[in-house]
Amino acid sequence: MQYISQSLTFAEDKITLTYAEEEFEVMMNWEDPLMSASAAYVCEGGGDILEIGFGMGISANYIQQHTINSHTIIENHPDIIPKAQAWAADKSNVTIVEGDWYSVKDTLSTYDGLFMDTFGDQNMKHFSSSLSSLMKVGGKATWWNSISGSNNYYDIPDVTYEVIDINPPSNTYFNYNHYLLPKKQF
Ligand SMILES: C[S@@+](CC[C@H](N)C(=O)[O-])C[C@H]1O[C@@H](n2cnc3c(N)ncnc32)[C@H](O)[C@@H]1O
Repeated sequence: MQYISQSLTFAEDKITLTYAEEEFEVMMNWEDPLMSASAAYVCEGGGDILEIGFGMGISANYIQQHTINSHTIIENHPDIIPKAQAWAADKSNVTIVEGDWYSVKDTLSTYDGLFMDTFGDQNMKHFSSSLSSLMKVGGKATWWNSISGSNNYYDIPDVTYEVIDINPPSNTYFNYNHYLLPKKQF
């Protein structure tokens, strides 16, 4: 499946796509506490924040509630880019970068905080090797962690985890009762 070629359906509580007659959730609003905690971690030191994937803008709204200098958001889906741009229109510290994060990464800066939360991302495999070049010394990074053990998909070393209890409705991507929020400081 080529994710950016799929048209998305937007509801109050979720974004979905239908593929091979099956519905998949791209983002759901039950993740609100996870988005809040992820935003809080990457904004602990303030400064310049990079967010990869706008989705429903839940984490973006939380990041905006912290005291930061700049907020750069990379988004690649043609149905979501206009929503991100509209959301950013009245926010002077936000830059929307259109495209796939892996294609645009060499045009970026370095950051005090980074939150990676993509879907259908064929370049996920490059995240661990790309991450350190995007971070300032002391910077804090987290990423969507869809596994429930204390390891991580990306094999990034020296990661600690904050356990967050959750009770998600049945869905196609995450059905555990706790989330392990990865914390990696550079
Ligand atoms: C799960 S949603 C992000 C949810 C977001 N954190 C929130 O709070 O609503 C994933 C987002 O990543 C975007 N995305 C997927 N692959 C991407 C890529 N390679 N580069 C940039 N954005 C990508 C999707 O279009 C979608 O907007």
